[in-house]
Amino acid sequence: MKEIIDKINKLKQDKNAIILAHCYQNMEIDEVADFVGDSLYLSQMASKTDADIILFAGVYFMAQTAKIICPDKKVLLPRLESGCRMADMISLNQLREFKKQNENIPSVCYINSTAEVKSECDICCTSSNALRIVESLHAAKVLFLPDTYLGKWVETKLKTTKVITYPGFCPTHLQIRPDDIIQMREKYPEALVLAHPECHQEVTKLADYVGSTTGIMKFAAESNHKQFIIATEKGVTDRLQRDYPEKEFILVREDIICPNMKWHTLADIYNSLLHEEHEINVDEEISKKALKCINSMLEVSASGVK
Ligand code: 13P
Ligand code: SF4
Repeated sequence: MKEIIDKINKLKQDKNAIILAHCYQNMEIDEVADFVGDSLYLSQMASKTDADIILFAGVYFMAQTAKIICPDKKVLLPRLESGCRMADMISLNQLREFKKQNENIPSVCYINSTAEVKSECDICCTSSNALRIVESLHAAKVLFLPDTYLGKWVETKLKTTKVITYPGFCPTHLQIRPDDIIQMREKYPEALVLAHPECHQEVTKLADYVGSTTGIMKFAAESNHKQFIIATEKGVTDRLQRDYPEKEFILVREDIICPNMKWHTLADIYNSLLHEEHEINVDEEISKKALKCINSMLEVSASGVK
């Protein structure tokens, strides 16, 4: 492994490239990554870099978002198969129909969406800032898409805003059932349950803490508790266990794995950098409109505005 890591690092230097890796990636990718984090953090890092090439070890919409933020840079995705099954659940036509049925209501799209969908929404969000973004609109009603569960969770937190959700979902997080939590609590009565808001609300209701990838990692790091049941993708549990060996992290069920996040290997990353493929491009008009939606989010996130 050391040999391929050295080769990737050399290519990075020669080509002035950086590697952004999502926390759901295979853990060996962290060895070559410049930044590892959730989708908000990685978008922020993309917006700040002066590298010429950004290699995205994540899913397609993440690389597309980086290209929209940095249109003059070359953005690479090592394996094109790595789509997001939730993002694929809403097309531009489906968005238009959803908006037609709910006229004159501001639209918030989860970053897990295509550039086309972002180009016709008012503001973007990630699971880290969804509450703050919806709050920043000061609207009685908002449209939220594509993730119905994140939208419903935001509504339970805000109470004063009606969140009209599109029926999209994450097939990986929806595998987690309330019974899984109940059984794990019986087995590990001392453990705290930490869940991602993409889970079904019957699952999040049973959790001690609900938050984004970063939220869960921060909570676990700062807590005095020693044992945690993690109700989100396996990569989060693996990284927590690596970084806090004195604590115990138990994945709620062994099969909570996003298959599309696991495509990229170190060999793929090497080939991608060497041959500068697969390059992600976005239609210029779509990109400009989608950038407004993403920038609105980054501005609210940076300002701390409510
Ligand atoms: P984060 O915004 O927490 O990185 O989540 C992205 C994602 O795809 C979760 O399933
Ligand atoms: Fe998409 Fe779900 Fe995979 Fe996240 S875990 S990338 S929402 S399919």
